[in-house]
Amino acid sequence: MSHARPAESREAALLAWGERNRRDLPWRRTRDPWAVLVSEVMLQQTQISRVVPRYRTFLEEFPTAAACAAAPPAAVIRAWDGLGYNRRAVSLHRCAQLVVAGHGGRPPDGLAALLALPGVGPYTARAVLAFAYEHDVGVVDTNVGRVLARWQGRPLTAAEAQAAADAAVPPGGGWAWNQALFDLAAEVCTRRAPRCEQCPVRWWCRWRGRGADPADGSAGVSGGQSRFAGSDRQGRGRLVAALRMGPVAGAEVAAACGWPDDPTRAERILGELVAEGMVEIDREGRARLPEAESAHGSR
Ligand code: ADE
Repeated sequence: MSHARPAESREAALLAWGERNRRDLPWRRTRDPWAVLVSEVMLQQTQISRVVPRYRTFLEEFPTAAACAAAPPAAVIRAWDGLGYNRRAVSLHRCAQLVVAGHGGRPPDGLAALLALPGVGPYTARAVLAFAYEHDVGVVDTNVGRVLARWQGRPLTAAEAQAAADAAVPPGGGWAWNQALFDLAAEVCTRRAPRCEQCPVRWWCRWRGRGADPADGSAGVSGGQSRFAGSDRQGRGRLVAALRMGPVAGAEVAAACGWPDDPTRAERILGELVAEGMVEIDREGRARLPEAESAHGSR
């Protein structure tokens, strides 16, 4: 690769690299806002290789928001198997119901309306705008936040990162630009071993791998998920996994969480899951996945 700064702009350089290096991911083959929303909620906290097969089977079962809204929460939680953070399944089901009730069955084409949906934050809302509706907005997840901080050569606040991301989008190029940024972050501007010498936009980068990494301490650029073993999240995941198979009697809940000697902790987790609409207690006092529309929804 040449070491001279190309005559083209940073925008042209990254877009050209993006065309040549674009990963063929199934959600990049559609502009259907429901499919894009499903993919982005899955991608919030789960790696791409795990998402791809579940994305396909989820959309086979729930090809539209209406199909999802009509199903019991239990069916959506079952379809979430293997993705973790099951609360997202309950939120997505609620999203589907709100989209059917208020938006004609399509996730809306507007930032405020998207942000009003449960489980949809600034990242997911802008991802739907860019990847379904092809708007020129910057989509900032932890990986893109890392790239932006390095380009600017200093840690950024969340607001600064969003402003920088929005300003960087070449007019009319929102879809391709954001996809290229994801690919650059995944394959070149990686967290631990950035390949700066292969970077198509290194001439416009203040950092270029020299000195302290500006991504450290930048807002939204996490060092990774917290420890799973022994966590509440692990117990929650085990209990929901057991409930996918069928109801669990009260006396079995602690064992299902993996904490046979700590029923108090298991009770607390069960209470949280019930409050979140993820679990209900049946007439026999057993815990089960919600088979009917829950009264309180999620959040
Ligand atoms: N992470 C979140 N959305 C993505 C996308 N559309 N492509 C690649 N990685 C992503």
